[in-house]
Amino acid sequence: MKAVGVVPSRKEVRQLEHPHPQITRDNEVHIRTLEVGICGTDREICTFAYGQPPAGDDYLVLGHECLGEVVEVGAKVRHFKTGDLVVPSVRRPCPDPNCIPCREGRQDFCSTWKFTERGINQRHGYMTEYFVEEEAYLTPVPKSLRDAAVLAEPLTIAEKGLAQAWLVQKRVPGWEHHNRDGKGRGHGKTAVVLGAGPIGLLGAMKLLIEGFKVFVYSRSPKPNFKADLAESIGAEYISAVKMGADDFSQKVGNIDLVYEAVGEGSVSFDVMRVLGINGVFIFTGIPAQKPAIPIRADSTMRNITLKNQALIGTVNASPQAFIDAIHDLGEFKRRWPAAVKALITGRHKIDAHRELLVGKAQGIKNVIEFA
Ligand SMILES: NC(=O)c1ccc[n+]([C@@H]2O[C@H](COP(=O)([O-])OP(=O)(O)OC[C@H]3O[C@@H](n4cnc5c(N)ncnc54)[C@H](OP(=O)(O)O)[C@@H]3O)[C@@H](O)[C@H]2O)c1
Ligand SMILES: [Zn+2]
Ligand SMILES: [Zn+2]
Repeated sequence: MKAVGVVPSRKEVRQLEHPHPQITRDNEVHIRTLEVGICGTDREICTFAYGQPPAGDDYLVLGHECLGEVVEVGAKVRHFKTGDLVVPSVRRPCPDPNCIPCREGRQDFCSTWKFTERGINQRHGYMTEYFVEEEAYLTPVPKSLRDAAVLAEPLTIAEKGLAQAWLVQKRVPGWEHHNRDGKGRGHGKTAVVLGAGPIGLLGAMKLLIEGFKVFVYSRSPKPNFKADLAESIGAEYISAVKMGADDFSQKVGNIDLVYEAVGEGSVSFDVMRVLGINGVFIFTGIPAQKPAIPIRADSTMRNITLKNQALIGTVNASPQAFIDAIHDLGEFKRRWPAAVKALITGRHKIDAHRELLVGKAQGIKNVIEFA
C-alpha cells in the first residue's frame, strides 16, 4: 500500500510501500483511511526532532489525525460494522502493571512515560490506505460529519483541557458547573485563546458553545483570514503586535480562563501575568527548545498566589474526550457551517505530502485524502 513516512536513520521524508495489514484478533477492525490531517507534530517529526519507528522497522508511517471507514470487523467486535465511519485515537498504554492510568484506559495520564503513539512513537500512523485497530481505540462518527470529523483529534485537546478546568474550578464557589438557563457553563465568564491556529480556533469554538465570552489573542494584525474566521463565530480577535498584554487585560476585564494554543513562551507568560482573580490557565503548547527568555517572574508569581490561580498542562485525550469532540463538531457545524468548512484550508492528494510536511506552513488545517 501507499504510505507517507519518515526514515530517521537516513533523514528521509517520503512516500513508502507499507504492507496491507490484516485482522489477526477477534477485537480488531480493518479500516480504510479516508482523510488524515497534518499538524505541527508531523512537521516536527519531519525535522527528525523525535518520531521513533516501531521495533524492527527503519521507517515510521506518519499521521495521527484520521477519519476512516470500516471495511471488516473481527468476530468479537460489538459496536462497529462495515461502512461505519470511525476516528481512531493516538496513544496506547504502557506495559507496566503498576501504571494505574494505563491499566484503567487513561493512557493520556500514563505515569511511566513508556506509552506508544500511532504516527509518533513506536507505532505506525494513519497516512496509509488501510490500517487495523482494536475496537476500544475507535470512536463512531455519524455520516453527517464525513466532511469535518478529521478535526476531531485536534479538538480533543480542548475537550480534555476544559474537562480538567471544570474539575479544578470546582474549588471556586460561584464557578457554575451546571448549565445555567441553557446558556452554558461558561456563561458570564471571559476566556482568552492564545493563538489562532487549528488548536486555538477549535478551542475558541468549544469555549463559545460553553457560553464564555471569547477573545482570540494572536500575532498577525487584522485583517487576516484567521481573524475573520474567529470573528465570524463570535469571538473578538486582537493582535498581540498591536496591543500589549497590559492594555489587553484592561480592555478584556477579569480573565477567567486562558486556553494557550500558541506554543510560544514569551506571549504565554506575558498573558499569565494578567490572568484574572480565581483564573485558570490551560497550557497546550509544546515549544521547541530555544535560548532562555526574560519573564517578569515576581509579578507573575504574586499574581498566581494572591489571585488563587491554577495552571493546567494538557496532552493527548481520553476516550470520553473523543466522544465529546464528535458531539461538539456536530454543534459547531450546526452553528457555524461556513467556519467549520473554512478550518480545512486544503484537501490534497498523497503526492503533495512533501510540500505539506517540509514546505512553508500555510492555511489552517491541511488534509491528505486517501479515498
Ligand atoms: N497538547 C497537545 O496535546 C497538543 C496537540 C497538538 C498541538 N499542540 C500544540 O499546540 C500549539 C498550537 O498548535 P497549532 O497547530 O494551532 O499551531 P499554529 O498553527 O502554529 O498556530 C499558532 C498560532 O499562534 C500565533 N502565534 C505564534 N507566535 C505568536 C506570538 N509570539 N504572539 C502571538 N501569537 C503568536 C500564530 O500567529 P499567526 O497566525 O500570525 O501565524 C498562530 O495563529 C503548538 O505549540 C502545538 O505544539 C499541543
Ligand atoms: Zn496533531
Ligand atoms: Zn502507563
